[in-house]
Amino acid sequence: MAAAAHDRLVIAVDGPAAAGKGTLARRLASHLGLAYLDTGRIYRAVARLVLDAGSAPDDEQAAVAAAEALRPQDLERADLRDEATGEAASVVAGIPAVRTALLAFQRRFAEAPPEGAVGAVLDGRDIGTVVCPCATVKLYVTASPEERARRRHKELREAGVESIYSRVLADLIARDERDSGRSVAPLRPAADAVVLDTTSLNAEDAFQEALRHVEVRLRQRS
Ligand code: C5P
Repeated sequence: MAAAAHDRLVIAVDGPAAAGKGTLARRLASHLGLAYLDTGRIYRAVARLVLDAGSAPDDEQAAVAAAEALRPQDLERADLRDEATGEAASVVAGIPAVRTALLAFQRRFAEAPPEGAVGAVLDGRDIGTVVCPCATVKLYVTASPEERARRRHKELREAGVESIYSRVLADLIARDERDSGRSVAPLRPAADAVVLDTTSLNAEDAFQEALRHVEVRLRQRS
């Protein structure tokens, strides 16, 4: 049975690309027994559908049609993580009607998490500001662009993908600008978010720090 609204724990994890929010959000969800939704995959899946149809990601009509036709299995595709898809995702994500079409699905996940979970962790760019403004805990995970580029570059190399650090850094900065500069749901910390700068934290330290904030919030609530 789904948890009552007042018991439900919703954790919003926002931040720029490659700041470590996915790893952190997944770990929080698993530790606390919560459902997890990577909302970036939703935008990536829409971008993939647009590209597969031979359209450009800034083609509003094609992007809105893809967002409206999105099925749960589209989020399971194995080809959503590459850089070209991320880039195209940030273009479709700047179209207001695309965001509107995807809002209900994300809110439903937070309000009635699958498999009767007592709550959910959602990561993205606008979870604390737009999707779940009443989230129990809001974390804004960030790191310097150079550190994020270093991590992404290492990840790509380890996956056997050719990568040039300066290119990765330039692409990240361009993506940050697009995500922060758009008129609808721009990337920014919610006024009541805890900012977690992971520039000099490893994944374990970031997790412990985040967990400490969640526990403080839960104590305040009980
Ligand atoms: O987090 P990820 O890199 O997978 O997200 C891909 C793109 O999707 C982001 O650059 C951003 O433009 C968009 N996005 C968004 N809002 C979210 C999640 C992702 O605009 N909640």
